[in-house]
Amino acid sequence: MSPEDQLQYQNQKMVKPRHVAIIMDGNGRWATKQGKLRMSGHQAGAESVRRAISFAVSYQLDALTLYAFSSDNWSRPNQEVIALLELFVLVLDAEVKNLNKHDIRLNIIGDTTRFSHRLQDCIRCAEEKTQNNQGLILNIAVNYGGRWDIIHGVRALAEQVRDGSLLPEEIEEKTLSAHLCLSAIVPVDLVIRTGGEYRISNFLLWQAAYAEFWFTDILWPDFDENVFQGALHAFAKRERRFGGIAL
Ligand code: FPP
Repeated sequence: MSPEDQLQYQNQKMVKPRHVAIIMDGNGRWATKQGKLRMSGHQAGAESVRRAISFAVSYQLDALTLYAFSSDNWSRPNQEVIALLELFVLVLDAEVKNLNKHDIRLNIIGDTTRFSHRLQDCIRCAEEKTQNNQGLILNIAVNYGGRWDIIHGVRALAEQVRDGSLLPEEIEEKTLSAHLCLSAIVPVDLVIRTGGEYRISNFLLWQAAYAEFWFTDILWPDFDENVFQGALHAFAKRERRFGGIAL
């Protein structure tokens, strides 16, 4: 987005977000409450993912970004990590047809190099098969961390400085922004977090600078169209000033 577009975007009276990002939390607690294994919470969470995508399409959002696996999630029991990554393969494989049917473009953000070759191939294949779609942009953050994202961008700029193609004094917000995930799409307007925690957990640290936040105690597997709608109603009542004053 050019600075002019950004200004125009900020000046709009925004009742409807164009880009919603979600921290999907509470799968484990949902399962424990039901006397089930944590993994069944993630499986139920995958159903909520489908519901949220379908709602985003019908609501005509431009972009939906889901935090599926944080770079800090590797510290979970190995069995849960393996099962979770296996679930991604299954869901991606099963959903590509549906993504195409609804004109959704899939974009995976995060450091995928630590994943098995099978999962990396599966991700690449799903992205390629949907890359020409023009509807909703679906970003799924896997092995993503906001700090990783910023470090990655800073390294790219440092290399340009080293090879002489960039002067340190030329570095501005837009210079770094252009090297971060999601740089090519509309800014994040609304971040939703389920599961009753009130923190950002290393998600979109740069990109959510002016986003509105909406928190709910609802656990992710119970997140449905009504809850999503509730978040959007709350957003419509917010006054966004982007650091300015009320007009
Ligand atoms: C947080 O709940 C959830 C996750 C770490 C994984 C999210 C994964 C899914 C919703 C499954 C499928 C997703 C895709 C995109 C195919 P938690 O385990 O931290 O729950 P807790 O806080 O109750 O322990």
